[in-house]
Amino acid sequence: MPDLPELRRYLVNIDSASTHQLFTDTLIIGAGVAGLRAAIEAAQHQNVIVVCKQTLEDSNTWNAQGGIASVLQKTDSFESHIADTLNTGCGLCDQKIVELVVRKGPELVRQLLHWGTEFDLVDGHIAATLEGGHSHPRIAHAHGDETGRAIAETLIKTVRKEPNIKIVENLYTIDLLTSENTCFGIIADKNAHRQIIWAENTILATGGAGRLYRETTNPEGATADGIAIACRAGAILQDLEFMQFHPTTLYIAGASRALITETLRGEGAILLDSKGCAFMKDYHPDAELAPRDIVSRAILAQMLKTGSTHVYLDVRHLDKDYLKKRFPLITELCESFDIHFQTDLIPVRPSAHYMIGGLKTDRSARTTIENLYACGEIASTGLHGANRLGSNSLLEGLVFGQIAGRAASKQKKTRPSLPEHILIKHQIPHSDRTRLDTADVTNSLRALMWRNVGITRTAQPLRETREIITFWQRYVMDKVFDSPDGWQCQNMLTAALLMAQSAELRNESRGVHFRQDYPETDDKQFKKHIEITRP
Ligand code: SIN
Repeated sequence: MPDLPELRRYLVNIDSASTHQLFTDTLIIGAGVAGLRAAIEAAQHQNVIVVCKQTLEDSNTWNAQGGIASVLQKTDSFESHIADTLNTGCGLCDQKIVELVVRKGPELVRQLLHWGTEFDLVDGHIAATLEGGHSHPRIAHAHGDETGRAIAETLIKTVRKEPNIKIVENLYTIDLLTSENTCFGIIADKNAHRQIIWAENTILATGGAGRLYRETTNPEGATADGIAIACRAGAILQDLEFMQFHPTTLYIAGASRALITETLRGEGAILLDSKGCAFMKDYHPDAELAPRDIVSRAILAQMLKTGSTHVYLDVRHLDKDYLKKRFPLITELCESFDIHFQTDLIPVRPSAHYMIGGLKTDRSARTTIENLYACGEIASTGLHGANRLGSNSLLEGLVFGQIAGRAASKQKKTRPSLPEHILIKHQIPHSDRTRLDTADVTNSLRALMWRNVGITRTAQPLRETREIITFWQRYVMDKVFDSPDGWQCQNMLTAALLMAQSAELRNESRGVHFRQDYPETDDKQFKKHIEITRP
């Protein structure tokens, strides 16, 4: 495990006795597919509070385009989905977890259909398409490329109907409250009002970390808060070097980046370089449908070769009417930039997409802290190993959301009811050090991560990244902020440092982690997880 610089336990002063308090059985932090599915499950047995830092609609799930991978076709098999997941994971998947998730998938996808998700159908059956690394078409989609939104809307509707669930939006979770490695809930902020939510069990489902990078497909909220919060609380985190980059993000200088789903390549889109040459066959026999890390690195190499800032997706040979129907979101997006499928190429380049690592969890979604569970992108369950198969993440969120909700709600009470026996007081010493502009630090951090902890990595820039972040931390981590911008900046610095450290420690290339100075996979030394915890 790497040495971590001294990390404050809490970001703010706490006096539990004089803070507004709420109580619940199960508290869920985050409202993507995993958090919402966990809430529905836990509410069968208990009272549940779901909190999220923006609204229920602001999640990575909502933005997911491609779909959800599951064995739904007669020609497909569990064995094939399991083998594809293991192959893509490059030796670091937990086979038992892979089997669990793959086998549970179809039942939970059909449950979504039953609850009202309008999956696209063919002859009355759920339609499926291909993505890279899958040897069968098994990506179920809804409203074309609006799958995430369709699933999220179904879960939100179900959650809103459930009398045992209370939803609190726009609440920023500052820290988990713990004592003796047991979680008791959170200290949070809503509209500048501090509150404590005491919970018998807490489920962290805070999502991703893409916003640590200048180039990302992720929405504003994906700032790695969960990683930093869990690290301060003392949880074991693992595999933080495995950030997955998506090969095709719409690239229009000055416009915010937007995902162009891999299923477009699944339907026949071709990658061309700036000279108009199709290049993917030079890099992998599966060409456009090679695993994502290979496509991302190939695009980068081709951009360097041709001295260009991007490559193109060519769909001009495909049926326009079908494309419009199948990809309404991308059609609208492209047309808003005057890009028309029939005549124009779509400029794309890779960007940060999915954090594979996270809180170490077991088969029941338990973390290494008592009464704290994790599911979704924040969890490291062992499903993805060193590389995630496309569309396995909505599946993982659904399966482990259900598991976490069930496990938390069925957990026997091991201690007296909250909170009579626990009083938390925390006072942070005043610091006279100069104050940095947190917005400036955040922007600089995102550029630094993209440059040095990006698609390809090398020891020296990784070391420099650690030194630069440690320098910024001296002036940011000693402060007590009173609004989300400050706490978010502190969390981003903490999580970025952990990711850079993990990338520096893995002196090999495996899955999404590519080290130019160690291009080979070294099973002897590194067929293992890199774990991190505070001292
Ligand atoms: C995509 O639609 O290409 C993204 C799906 C995923 O990341 O699993």
